[in-house]
Amino acid sequence: MQIKRKQIDPPPNARFAYNDIYADWWRSRTTDRAHGRAYRNIAGFIRASLPREPRLIVDYACGAGQLLARLAPLFPHTRLVGLDGSEALLDLAATRLARLPKSRTAEITLACTLLPMGRPFGEKAELVVYTFPNMMPLEEEAPGADLDREEHETARRLIGDPGEEADPALLEYGRSISRDLRRLLRRGGLCVRAEYADSRREEWEELILRQVEFEEGSLDLPEEGIRPWFRVLASAFFRSRVMEDVYEQTGEDRDRSGGYLITVLRAV
Ligand SMILES: C[S@@+](CC[C@H](N)C(=O)[O-])C[C@H]1O[C@@H](n2cnc3c(N)ncnc32)[C@H](O)[C@@H]1O
Repeated sequence: MQIKRKQIDPPPNARFAYNDIYADWWRSRTTDRAHGRAYRNIAGFIRASLPREPRLIVDYACGAGQLLARLAPLFPHTRLVGLDGSEALLDLAATRLARLPKSRTAEITLACTLLPMGRPFGEKAELVVYTFPNMMPLEEEAPGADLDREEHETARRLIGDPGEEADPALLEYGRSISRDLRRLLRRGGLCVRAEYADSRREEWEELILRQVEFEEGSLDLPEEGIRPWFRVLASAFFRSRVMEDVYEQTGEDRDRSGGYLITVLRAV
C-alpha cells in the first residue's frame, strides 16, 4: 500500500496554530478510550451506511488520521484522501497509516491544504467525512466571503437580534465549509458529519435547527434564494466524554457533558 503526500495550498506554518500548540493538544486529547471508541463507532456507522465499497472517500480536516486508520481495513479497495492544513498532524497520520497491514492495496493520499478550498478538487468522491471539526480561518481571511448576498442576509436573519450570542460570520464560515464538502462529492454521494452535541437533533428548538440547516447546506428556502445542497438522511446521538474537548476550549459548564451527533446527508 502506498501513502502519498501532497501539497495543495498549505497555510503558512507560523500562522496556523494546528501546527504547534493545537497539534500537541489534539494529539493528547485523542489518545484516550473515549476517542478510540468514538472513531470505531463512526467508522462502523459509515460502513453500515454504504451498500458497497466506494471508489473514493475523502476525510475533510482528517487531523492525525485516527478515522482514516479505522476506515482503511473496512474499505480495503477504496482510495482514501485525507485533507488537512496541519503538516504536523499529517505527519502523525502518515506514521499511523504506515502501520496498517500490507494486504491493503488501495492508495492513501494525505494532502496539506488550507480549508475551505473554495474550488473543486480532483475526482469526485462517493463519501466525504467531517469529524470533530474545530476549523480555524487564517487571521486575514474573511470567512464566508464566497457566499452571495442572499446567503449573508439569511445568516443575519437566522441570528435574530444583534447582541445575541451567535455571530452570523460563524454561520457563514460553516456554510462555506459545507459548500466545499458538497464540491468534493458526486451527486447522490454521502457526507457523514460527526459533531460535538449535547442532545438529539429532534430535541432542538426551531431556530437552532434552522441555523444548523443553513450551515450544513440542508436549508431549503427557495423564495429567499437558499437552495439545499444536501438532504438529511439520518442522525444519531451518542453520549461520550469526547465532549470534554469542547469544555477544554470554552471552560463553560454547559459544555461539560454531552457527546457527538452523527449526521448522514445525501448530496443533491
Ligand atoms: C479537532 S481536529 C479534528 C481532526 C479529525 N477530523 C478528527 O476527527 O480527529 C480539527 C482539524 O482541523 C484542521 N483544521 C482546522 N482549521 C483548518 C483550516 N482552516 N484549514 C485546514 N485544516 C484545518 C486542524 O489541522 C485539525 O486537524
